[in-house]
Amino acid sequence: MSSYDVIVIGAGPGGYVSAIRCAQLGMKVAVVEGRETLGGTCLNVGCIPSKALLHATHMLHEAEHNFAEMGLKGKAPSVDWKQMISYKEKTVGQNTGGIEFLFKKNKIDWLKGWGSIPAAGKVKVGDDVYDAKNIIIASGSEASVLPGIEVDEKTVVTSTGALTLPKVPKSLVVIGAGVIGLELGSVYARLGAEVTVIEYLDAITPGMDAEIARQFQKMLTKQGLKFTLGAAVQGVEVKNNKATVSYVVRKDESEHTITADTVLVATGRKPYTTGLCLDALGVALTERGQIKTDTSYATNVPGIYAIGDTIEGPMLAHKAEDEGMAVAEVIAGQKPHVNYGVIPGVIYTHPEVSNVGETEETLKAAGRAYKVGKFPFLGNARAKANFAGDGFVKLLVDAQTDRILGAHIIGPMAGDLIHEICVAMEFGAAAEDIARTCHAHPTYSEAVREAALACGDGAIHV
Ligand code: NAI
Repeated sequence: MSSYDVIVIGAGPGGYVSAIRCAQLGMKVAVVEGRETLGGTCLNVGCIPSKALLHATHMLHEAEHNFAEMGLKGKAPSVDWKQMISYKEKTVGQNTGGIEFLFKKNKIDWLKGWGSIPAAGKVKVGDDVYDAKNIIIASGSEASVLPGIEVDEKTVVTSTGALTLPKVPKSLVVIGAGVIGLELGSVYARLGAEVTVIEYLDAITPGMDAEIARQFQKMLTKQGLKFTLGAAVQGVEVKNNKATVSYVVRKDESEHTITADTVLVATGRKPYTTGLCLDALGVALTERGQIKTDTSYATNVPGIYAIGDTIEGPMLAHKAEDEGMAVAEVIAGQKPHVNYGVIPGVIYTHPEVSNVGETEETLKAAGRAYKVGKFPFLGNARAKANFAGDGFVKLLVDAQTDRILGAHIIGPMAGDLIHEICVAMEFGAAAEDIARTCHAHPTYSEAVREAALACGDGAIHV
């Protein structure tokens, strides 16, 4: 079999979801993937392994800090790092194996190897060339490392190396207070490393609602992370297995250094399209090196589409999945729609942080009149019982119509709680719609309802 309706390049969340949807819509599909296992960055070296380590180290934190208070006496567990890594790898294996099962179930061929596109309608893998009526590029992204920094994935690591360190470092410097830096910084801080985060901007998590970002930084500081903000990293030098990071504090241009066992470079990611031969094909790129597409994910070359981290928009697995389904539906002649205004973002630290839609800053910049409804988890019975009273839910609604424009949560299960608000936003709901919906007691979700009540006549439990 060497001819397909669709060949997808890359088996990450964008690519594999797209392939499954194409198969469900009756197309003959193959996916090119050069890794040993399916699932791309997310399943192999991203979302899934980091969540396993975040879970394990959160359990450790609970044992160390909260067990005794609940009457669970005894020594807190000691850390067997090798076992923790093998638990992480088992979790990855279960997930990547699951995708292989789904490929078989949907009769999707896995073309093993790294693909290129020698011409429109052709995909080359190794020495074999396949015909494809449609090609979907879903080749994802790679770490974008600052000039002057050489990553060896041992002492100076990206997120990939940070997930397989041979031992827990005594000290870790994280460059960049974005999602990767804070999630993995949290993991190692809980394991006892001295963690210092150096960030170029004057606040952590750029783009996040500023009030949430300030609160988040306070909580992480309480957990032992140190922050140097407004500091531009210039370079990293490795000597005798130690790394020295040099940086300039922007406000007074003073020069500083800090030395650590390990340095994590978490300064963003860039599209990974190496080896696809996009230049020769004449595929147009944006100024930032992303593949240019129209609203149907079509590139300027007929029959070639692109989705996920290779194109514009947030680099998130779930955004790629949505685009993967949508492009399959486009190819099948349907008229899908991805609502980019309602794509949630989640940081899986403890507490979790989540957001959707507008921030106070974007609303102010747009000159839009809005109301804020807030509710602290301290007023939520379930959160108090579970040592999870830190944080709050914040709803931003239109001042006249009460329509929900954005939501920001810092607190327990924030990454799950946000979806009630996403659904509400998809239906154009007002805060009152959530406020008048019965929420089970005692659940964390009552905090969302209370924030909605706070947009009207007032929350009850505060
Ligand atoms: P990011 O873009 O979130 O943060 C990078 C940070 O590095 C920024 O705050 C930036 O100001 C800072 N920075 C850049 N140059 C610097 C310099 N010279 N000195 C000091 N600081 C500097 O990138 P990150 O954390 O690497 O994540 C990459 C992508 O992966 C993001 O798009 C993120 O959304 C995604 N991701 C999402 C996750 C999730 O949804 N939970 C988990 C992990 C990654």
